[in-house]
Amino acid sequence: MINAYIKGTGSYAPKNIVKNDFFESVGSSDKWIFENLGIKERRISTGETTSDLAYEAGLLAIKDANLSPNDIDLIILATATADRLAPSCACFVQDKLKATNAVAFDISAVCSGALFATSTAVQYIKSGMYKNVLVIGADTFSTITDWTRRDAVFFGDGAGAIVLSDTTEDKGFIDFILHTDGSGKEHFTIPAGGSEKPATADTTNSGGHYFQMNGQEVYKTAIDVVPKCIEEILSKNKRTVDEIKFLLPHQPSIKILQEVAKRVDLPFEKVKTNMDRYANTSGGTIPIILDETLKNNQFENGDLLLFAAVGAGWTWGTALYKW
Ligand SMILES: CC(C)(COP(=O)(O)OP(=O)(O)OC[C@H]1O[C@@H](n2cnc3c(N)ncnc32)[C@H](O)[C@@H]1OP(=O)(O)O)[C@@H](O)C(=O)NCCC(=O)NCCS
Repeated sequence: MINAYIKGTGSYAPKNIVKNDFFESVGSSDKWIFENLGIKERRISTGETTSDLAYEAGLLAIKDANLSPNDIDLIILATATADRLAPSCACFVQDKLKATNAVAFDISAVCSGALFATSTAVQYIKSGMYKNVLVIGADTFSTITDWTRRDAVFFGDGAGAIVLSDTTEDKGFIDFILHTDGSGKEHFTIPAGGSEKPATADTTNSGGHYFQMNGQEVYKTAIDVVPKCIEEILSKNKRTVDEIKFLLPHQPSIKILQEVAKRVDLPFEKVKTNMDRYANTSGGTIPIILDETLKNNQFENGDLLLFAAVGAGWTWGTALYKW
C-alpha cells in the first residue's frame, strides 16, 4: 500500500511587523486584540506578492526534503489572494521555482485551503500518479483588507509549504474528513472582482474588493463544526483524543481554539498556536504551524498529529497523521 508522508516543510512571512497599537486609530486596542484573538503582531507585505511568499516557503520545504525543484511532480497552492485572477498563482510559483517537471494548480477553500490541498495531494500519491507533491498555503490578506476598519486586526500575510512523498512504510496520512456548506457563503466573502460583480469604479469606491466578515457567525460555526469533525475522525479511526500528541489547527482566534479544545477534552497545551506572532494567515496557517512544530519538537514512530481547519464557504475538515 502506498501512503503519503511529510518529507519536508518550510515557511516564510514578510519582514515588516505591524503591532496591535497600529489599530488604535481605527477604534481597536492591543488589550482587546490580545484578549479576544491572541494576536500581538502580524507580518504585512510591503510589495511582496502571494507567489513571492509561496516561492520562499516552497523552496525551503524542498531543501528540507533534500530534493531539488526538478523532483517535484505537482504543486498545489491554496490561496484566496492569488497574484492575478488568471493564470493560477501556482503557475507563478512553478516558474519562480523553475520546477519544470511539475504540474501546477490552485485550490480555493480560503482558511481550509491548505488542508483541502493536502488531501488532494495525498490522493495523487496514493494512486501512484505522482511521487513528490509540493503543497503550499499562502495568502496576502493585507491586499483585501480595508485598513480604515477595525476588523483589519484579524489577518497577517504568510506562507507555509509541505513536501509530501510516497512511502510503503506504516506512516503518513491515515484519514481526512472534509465538509462544505455553501449556504454559509455570505458570512465571509470578497463580493466584487469576480463574474458576479466585475471590477468597476463603483465596486472599488464601495469597498467591494475588501473582505467582509460576520464575526459572530464565524465564531458560532467554528466552535460547532470543528469539534464535531474532530470527534468524527477519531471515532471513525477508533482513536481517542488522549492519543493525540498535538492538534495543529488553523488559527482563527485564540477563543475559538480554546473552546474547540474544551469541547473535545483536549488539554490546551497540546494545541499549537502562533497567532501571537502571525495572526491569521488564512491558507498559510496550517503549513506554518506544522513547520514550526516539526522544527521544535521530537517525534517518535507512531505519534499522532491531528489537523483541523474551518473557513469561508463554509469549508471545514480534519486530518489524522501517523509519524
Ligand atoms: C470578532 C469577535 C471577537 C466579536 O465578538 P462578538 O461578541 O461576536 O461581537 P460584537 O460585535 O458584539 O463585539 C463584542 C465587543 O467587542 C468589541 N469589538 C469587536 N471587534 C473589535 C475590534 N476589532 N477591536 C476592538 N473591539 C472590538 C465590540 O465593540 C464589542 O464591545 P462592547 O461589548 O463594549 O460593545 C468574535 O465574533 C469572533 O472572535 N469571531 C471570530 C472571527 C474570526 O475568527 N475570524 C477569522 C477567521 S475567518
